[in-house]
Amino acid sequence: MKILFYDAKTYDRASFDAQLPNFPAVTLDYLTADLTPETARLANGYDAICAFVNADLGRDVLFALYREGVKTILLRCAGFNQVDLVAADEFDMTVLRVPGYSPEAVAEHAMALALAVNRHIHKAYIKVRENNFSLVSLTGMTFHGKVAGIIGTGKIGQAMCRICQGFGMKVIAYDKYPSDALRAAGVEYRELDEVLAESDLLSLHCPLLDDTYHLIRAETIAKIKPGCILVNTSRGALVDSEALIAGIRERRFFGVGLDVYEEEDDNVFENREDDILQSSITARLLSFPNVIITSHQGFLTAEALEAIARTTLENAMSVEQGVPTEGNVVRV
Ligand code: NAI
Repeated sequence: MKILFYDAKTYDRASFDAQLPNFPAVTLDYLTADLTPETARLANGYDAICAFVNADLGRDVLFALYREGVKTILLRCAGFNQVDLVAADEFDMTVLRVPGYSPEAVAEHAMALALAVNRHIHKAYIKVRENNFSLVSLTGMTFHGKVAGIIGTGKIGQAMCRICQGFGMKVIAYDKYPSDALRAAGVEYRELDEVLAESDLLSLHCPLLDDTYHLIRAETIAKIKPGCILVNTSRGALVDSEALIAGIRERRFFGVGLDVYEEEDDNVFENREDDILQSSITARLLSFPNVIITSHQGFLTAEALEAIARTTLENAMSVEQGVPTEGNVVRV
């Protein structure tokens, strides 16, 4: 199977090159350019393309790929909200993803953001480098004994529950489909409003769907416990940025840690240090001392990259053999 790999970064090449010897029937060509209707033309002669979470896989791009004869879309990520699945179905394309490659990697990053924002690590790091050893404005809260509220208890949410329990936190959760195993492990399921009202740390782990779009908005922010730490490592559009900014200005939050945010699409994975950023929402969020933003790096551990590469290539082989791995196939 011939695969064209879009938006290849050094860490992608390293993890996929390491796996290739195990998949002799696969040839892989790397492009640094990402998918657009124009770059889709470069896929002529390839059986499949490989794309990441921020790729444009809307109708136009899928149609351009279809015209070049591409039959398979290999997503090297879990999320698939970037794909027009109706168009993919219409063009008879098989779309596969990598579900749950390392839930702990994302959950650990969520806790890293929570801890950093709580103990002001981002400020302390800069202060000490500037020979400022004052502790003023660095006071945090002890997580032990506090309440962690987990919204979405799938693979990543469950890993986050375990981490929070390890910190000695009481863990409450909201999910449309509660897990009995998690209940047995001591997690209490509550209504969403109760989780919002009782949590000292609120971490979002549900997917972006119609009913989770702007889950955190003015109306729900008003219900959040004052002084809460909010962490989002799931999808930017779970949070209404304007309402979040208003809530931060009203000092409703102790702090906010974002690995994902609305408007990230132009920024993620690119070095834009010489650009004048046009997005005022991002700039405003970055202006607050109690906000930390990372650029969608929750997945970025060596173990997760290895698992992504291996599963993506297994997905490719399953299509080649005519039995696409059920569970990894994404349909309308
Ligand atoms: P999953 O599919 O295992 O779990 C999602 C959970 O959300 C399920 O338990 C589901 O019942 C629940 N859910 C669905 N609708 C809901 C609603 N309206 N309210 C509350 N809960 C709801 O997914 P997984 O692997 O845990 O990933 C979660 C999300 O994390 C992904 O959708 C993706 O957006 C994000 N992610 C972020 C990464 C990063 O690098 N920052 C990397 C990988 C995933």
